[in-house]
Amino acid sequence: MSSVLLDVHLTESAAETALRADARAGLMAEPKQLPPKWFYDGRGSELFEKITELPEYYPTRTERALLRASVDDIAAASGADTVVELGSGSSAKTRLLLDAFTRAGTLRRYVPQDVSEPALRLALHALADEYAGLELHGVVGDFTRDLSGLPRGGRRMIAFLGGTVGNLLPAERAAFLTHVRSVLEPGEQLLLGTGLVIDPAIVVPAYDDAAGVTAEFNRNVLHVLNRELGADFDPEAFAHVAAWDAENEWIEMRLRAERDMTVTIAALDLVVRFAAGEEMRTEISAKFRRDGVGAMLTDAGFEPSRWWADPQDRFGLSLATAR
Ligand code: AVJ
Repeated sequence: MSSVLLDVHLTESAAETALRADARAGLMAEPKQLPPKWFYDGRGSELFEKITELPEYYPTRTERALLRASVDDIAAASGADTVVELGSGSSAKTRLLLDAFTRAGTLRRYVPQDVSEPALRLALHALADEYAGLELHGVVGDFTRDLSGLPRGGRRMIAFLGGTVGNLLPAERAAFLTHVRSVLEPGEQLLLGTGLVIDPAIVVPAYDDAAGVTAEFNRNVLHVLNRELGADFDPEAFAHVAAWDAENEWIEMRLRAERDMTVTIAALDLVVRFAAGEEMRTEISAKFRRDGVGAMLTDAGFEPSRWWADPQDRFGLSLATAR
C-alpha cells in the first residue's frame, strides 16, 4: 500500500486575486505584457501538450531523452530519499525519475507540486497503483509564490524540469532560486532543467510552428482574460509573434494587435487601447549556457555539482547542492 496525502496551499480566490493584479499591472504597463503562467487553463494545458508533440518543438523530447539517458547517474549522484517535483503536471518524466530512484534503492517519498488540483489528484491516484509502498504527498500551490508548504524531512531533491525557469525574467529567476534554496537544508539538492542557447533558426520555429498550435496557445491567454475577468478581447484580431532576442538570449512571444482596438476588462473596471501594430509580450523563454546556469545557481546559494546535456547541446540538466 502507498500512503497518499494532498495539501492545498492555493485557494481559487488567491489565484483569482493574482490574475487580477497581473492583468492590471501588465495591461497598464508600457509596453503591455502578461505573465506566461496564465496560459495554462484546461485548454491551454491541452494546447501545450499538443506543442510537445510538434515536429518543430524539440525541448520536451530532447529533455526526455536526456533524462532517460542520465537518470540512473542522477539518482546515484543524488542519493535523495524524497523527490519533489515542481509543476509536475501529468508528466512522463516523473516515472523516469521514480523508476531510477527506486532502482538506486533510496526512494521513500514523492512530492508532486502543481497549481492544478484535478491534475494532481489524477497523478497521485495513478502513481499509488504503480508504486506500491511509496509515500505520496501532493502539494497544490504556485511555485513562484510560496514553497514553504513543501513537507520537510528526509534527504530531498527538488526537480524543476521542462526549462520553465526560462519563463522567469532574470530578477524573478534569481528570487525564485533563492527562495528554493531557503526552503532546503544544507546538503539537500536541486535538479534544474534548462534549454540551451542554440541556432535561432531552430529555436524560432519551435515557438512558431507551421500548424499554428503555438499561435493558438499564445492567444489562449486572451480567452482566459475574457472568461475570468469579463474582458472583451477579440483573440482573432491578434497575431502570434515569436522573436529571438540575441542580446538577452531568449525567445519572446508577443501578441500583435492587427487593428486599433478598445478592450474593456469588466472585473478590473479598466479600458485599454491597442494601436494597430502594437505588440504585447506574453512570454519569454530564456536559453542558457552552462556557465550561466552555474553562476545563477551559485548566486542563489547552491554548489553546482553535476551537468548533463544531450549530444546536440540543446538541453542541460544541473544537479546542485544547497550550501
Ligand atoms: C512549458 C515553459 C517549457 O517555454 O518552451 C511552449 C512553454 N511556450 N511553446 C517553453 C511554451 C511556447 C514552454 N515551457
